[in-house]
Amino acid sequence: MTIEEIAIKYAESAGRFFQRERGPHQLAKLFGIFRVGEHHAVITIGDWLKSTDNLEVKSGYARLIWDEARHTEIWTTRMIELVGDDTVRKLYPDPRSVDYRKQEYFRLWDEYARAESLAQRLPYIYLVDAWAAVAYTIYLNYVDPVTKWHLQTILHDENFHTAFGRKMADKYVTSERDQEVLSHEEAKIQKILDDVTDGLLSSDV
Ligand SMILES: [Fe+2]
Ligand SMILES: [Fe+2]
Repeated sequence: MTIEEIAIKYAESAGRFFQRERGPHQLAKLFGIFRVGEHHAVITIGDWLKSTDNLEVKSGYARLIWDEARHTEIWTTRMIELVGDDTVRKLYPDPRSVDYRKQEYFRLWDEYARAESLAQRLPYIYLVDAWAAVAYTIYLNYVDPVTKWHLQTILHDENFHTAFGRKMADKYVTSERDQEVLSHEEAKIQKILDDVTDGLLSSDV
């Protein structure tokens, strides 16, 4: 399934999910889940930086690390605004984890961290970030004005990340062998994203 197909398939159920009435505590939990993804991207792309020789890709990774760290901070700030500093410290002390039983979500980030070559890594950037952008775009229709303002900033970055990942893949994943690896990884990611989406939309968050 492509991202476009996922967007079409889930538009209705995602709309229902995102327009649920949520109080401050439920919103903080939802944002805590988003924050895990943002923060995993910081850690993982930070790890990738060391083993990436290509300078153009390396400088793009550096921007991604900065962006994802800012997104992690944005969600943390919003959580604190909603439920207070003490509660965030008590219930959400660590941006790497959250009390959320849907294991598919964590599997996505584990697989992301296992990618070793450009052919394996770049599809995570353009597929996972495009997927996040689809989810955030749908959510923009329902979210409160303060969160909306932050979400627009994040969305702008995610769209850049998606374009960067695709451009680098077109430019540097060129051998037949690498393209095979990339296609294989894309299929794996799309299956996981489908499971993650099903899991999130059927959860009680
Ligand atoms: Fe992000
Ligand atoms: Fe991103």
